[in-house]
Amino acid sequence: MALLPILRYPDPRLHKIAKPVTSFDDRLRKLVADMAETMYEAPGVGLAATQVDAHERVIVIDVSDTRDQLRVLVNPEIVWASEDRQVYDEGCLSVPGIYDGVERPARVRVKAFDADGKPQEFDADGLLAVCVQHEMDHLMGKVFVEYLSPLKRNRIKTKLVKEERELKKDRVAVAAR
Ligand code: NI
Repeated sequence: MALLPILRYPDPRLHKIAKPVTSFDDRLRKLVADMAETMYEAPGVGLAATQVDAHERVIVIDVSDTRDQLRVLVNPEIVWASEDRQVYDEGCLSVPGIYDGVERPARVRVKAFDADGKPQEFDADGLLAVCVQHEMDHLMGKVFVEYLSPLKRNRIKTKLVKEERELKKDRVAVAAR
């Protein structure tokens, strides 16, 4: 297994649209294992393949406190969403340090495959419902900050671009030593 680098907003690769998985093979299982390791290490509750620059419809999620309830969703689909909605303070491994409220359907029914191609269907509410919808947005090239006002989004962009520049400077300084 290996840790994968996570793309940071506003990297344009975060806006690529993921393609459906067509073969459930060792390559897919390795991607899933690496994504799970990367998510646990970060640590985060969910990660979409888009965030590690793999543009396929693959998501890993673990919203448990014990961090041992890994869910792998391949080619996920939302087949039903509730009319009632909830606002949840979302964060994202690609938008480090930023949390803001996003309104989404409170409950959803999800169909997907696991890494071996076995179909699964489940109902989600609470954090799991938020997480599934947030990660599925990534697969469509959408980052949660796009739900916020243009003013907030621009502030976030400016802050992250500045941080990225500082990080690069530090890396160069270390390399020069
Ligand atoms: Ni995210």
